[in-house]
Amino acid sequence: SLSQRNRSFKPDFVLVRQHAYSMAQNEDFRNIIIGLQYAGVPSINSLESIYNLCDKPWAFAQLISTYKRLGPEKFPLIEQTFYPNYKDMITMPTFPVVVKIGHAHSGMGKVKVDNHSDFQDIASVVAITQTYTTTEPFIDSKYDIRIQKIGNNYKAYMRTSISGNWKTNTGSAMLEQVAMTDKYKLWVDTCSEIFGGLDICAVKAIHGKDGKDYITEVVGSSMLLIGEHQAEDRQLICDMVVAKMNQAVPRSAGRPPQRPTTVQPPQSAALKDGPTDGSKIPAQRPPPQGCLQYILDCNGVAVGPKQVQAN
Ligand SMILES: *[C@@H]1O[C@H](CO)[C@@H](O)[C@H](O)[C@H]1NC(C)=O
Repeated sequence: SLSQRNRSFKPDFVLVRQHAYSMAQNEDFRNIIIGLQYAGVPSINSLESIYNLCDKPWAFAQLISTYKRLGPEKFPLIEQTFYPNYKDMITMPTFPVVVKIGHAHSGMGKVKVDNHSDFQDIASVVAITQTYTTTEPFIDSKYDIRIQKIGNNYKAYMRTSISGNWKTNTGSAMLEQVAMTDKYKLWVDTCSEIFGGLDICAVKAIHGKDGKDYITEVVGSSMLLIGEHQAEDRQLICDMVVAKMNQAVPRSAGRPPQRPTTVQPPQSAALKDGPTDGSKIPAQRPPPQGCLQYILDCNGVAVGPKQVQAN
């Protein structure tokens, strides 16, 4: 069992469903990601993409390239400014502005700033964090949009704040599935191509009261499942895992003997035996013999079928 800390193991396949890195929760599993890559373990999403998504501005840089390639009509990316550290926070943005400090999730480290003096206060907070910051113009939002892609399955959601909090993932919000349009499909398809391809991804955007869309972020396989079709989404993920495992294993059969590369299990309980979200690998297509399945899943927090929340 994985609770024996000193046992090394080599999984045949990994599905990574939790954030590999978060400054807010003080979670940093990048060493595990590196170890898995080192051992050449196939995974969903690719370990390369997971590592590259560990800094949001690094991922945003990819969106900037896409924006430059497709143009503002097809890919309406929000305007963002990057400050490597607090010392650079001297050029003033246009207010109100949203300041995002470091790499965090679920609205953490995100502040709306109305004026020059408050911006200076925030810069003084950033000074003690020793991290980067980004700023975006505050968009008076009508609703948030999330378009997800799991393999070839697409879903679009609209989230409207009920409690009036400008962060629609904070306080109560109403979530509705909306039609997949060509526009949305283009956004998520182009986002799914970054970092060598994302098997599971979602693109987030804000629909402003000005009637315009603003793409803000791309997320990978750590995305929380939302809405009414989470059971279907979980099944889609399982099917993809099984298909990828079947692809990966015959290849390894003809491989020369492996170097004795090992990956040590983490000290925390982050790696769990089997899915913790209630999903099942279909019985009719069992994974190859001797295949270990480990799923990194939200630090043991199971994502229930009724939960309406987004990261
Ligand atoms: C800056 O904005 C904050 C929040 O809206 C407000 O409380 C404060 O009085 C403003 N300060 C100045 C100098 O305008």
